[in-house]
Amino acid sequence: MFSNVRIEKLILSNYRNHKFLELDLTKNIILICGKNGSGKTNILESISLLTSSSGLKKTNLTEIVNSNLKGPVELFGVSLLCSINKKRMKIGLGLKKTANGLKKIINLEGSKTKKIDEYFSIFWITPKMTFIFQNSREDRRNFIDKMICSIDFSFKKFLLLYDRYKSERIRILKKWNEESEKWLVLIEKKIAATGIIICDARRKFIKQLNFYLSDPDRPFHPLEIELSGELDSLLLKKPAIVVEDFFFKKLKENRRKDFLTGRTNFSANKTDLIVINKNYRREAKSHSTGEQKVIIFLIIFSFIKILKNQKNLKILFLLDDVFSFLDKNFVFEVLDQLNKLKIQTWLTDVSGGWIMKKENFKPIIDKINIGE
Ligand SMILES: Nc1ncnc2c1ncn2[C@@H]1O[C@H](COP(=O)(O)OP(=O)(O)OP(=O)(O)O)[C@@H](O)[C@H]1O
Ligand SMILES: [Mg+2]
Repeated sequence: MFSNVRIEKLILSNYRNHKFLELDLTKNIILICGKNGSGKTNILESISLLTSSSGLKKTNLTEIVNSNLKGPVELFGVSLLCSINKKRMKIGLGLKKTANGLKKIINLEGSKTKKIDEYFSIFWITPKMTFIFQNSREDRRNFIDKMICSIDFSFKKFLLLYDRYKSERIRILKKWNEESEKWLVLIEKKIAATGIIICDARRKFIKQLNFYLSDPDRPFHPLEIELSGELDSLLLKKPAIVVEDFFFKKLKENRRKDFLTGRTNFSANKTDLIVINKNYRREAKSHSTGEQKVIIFLIIFSFIKILKNQKNLKILFLLDDVFSFLDKNFVFEVLDQLNKLKIQTWLTDVSGGWIMKKENFKPIIDKINIGE
């Protein structure tokens, strides 16, 4: 049985430290090994940039071009040969110079839509996630939003639309004229409607996660995720249409404040993710570092359980350096589950010895040594 999405070939040209790298892949688990600084994370980053503007390193596009490149930026590129639902597709990622700096160009061979999100999504885990409970609420919200985007292709579209409407509203507030009131009402209606769709999708997803997180058979206390935003709490009690109207009124009420601060003070994106240990009613952030890692693992594992129930899975997983921050047995459990779901998973490690010792993993792993 084959994965729904699989990268069969990856070529990097002048991508960060890789002047030229060509990988041929046949398996479900791709294990990239090499010493520190050999370019393992860079490989995962090149893939992550297909579906994300700044990728898993949150980079600026100027940083990804090999610093010794003397020629034109067209010599930079990421080329992939993918198999998607047994059909082959060539994908190219390049850069173009524009008046505002570098612009990313993605080329999908034979595709009419030119939108990669319609073909597959990419989910990643990086060592930075160890600190998710200490990081910003935006990081925690993005963690959940990324999971939802992986199974609901329209969610990402709504997130982008929502941001666009918000900027548009601030622009109207700043350039007031006699037409503004009419446009403002229209845009505030759109913000309220899109915001509620986003909050509601988050609410439904969290409900599914909580179903698995509260399982008393897990190797930890039962957990519960809550969303902290006012709109999120209201959606638990009132019909969406009522909450949408409340949001619409709130936007109108805040016009002056938003004009003065240049931002949307009451928004669907003020939400934080709060993880609670149900036995102690204690928040994840006040658990020990080790316990927090278990909590992160349990969330990821619950996400995989949700994936199991999805029809037509089209997702790739990138796990950067996870052995350095998650318990090895947990990583094996995650890999085992992802392999059963036929999800191609890219993994990095300095030596890879841990995995290669496991007899059952050997046949499903493409081990690639770089920087030798
Ligand atoms: N634009 C660039 N041009 C050339 N080299 C670069 C560029 N950007 C980053 N590098 C180099 O790429 C190297 C590899 O980085 P990467 O993060 O992929 O290493 P890694 O193999 O994942 O290491 P670790 O095991 O420490 O995580 C680094 O030494 C970095 O200096
Ligand atoms: Mg790395």
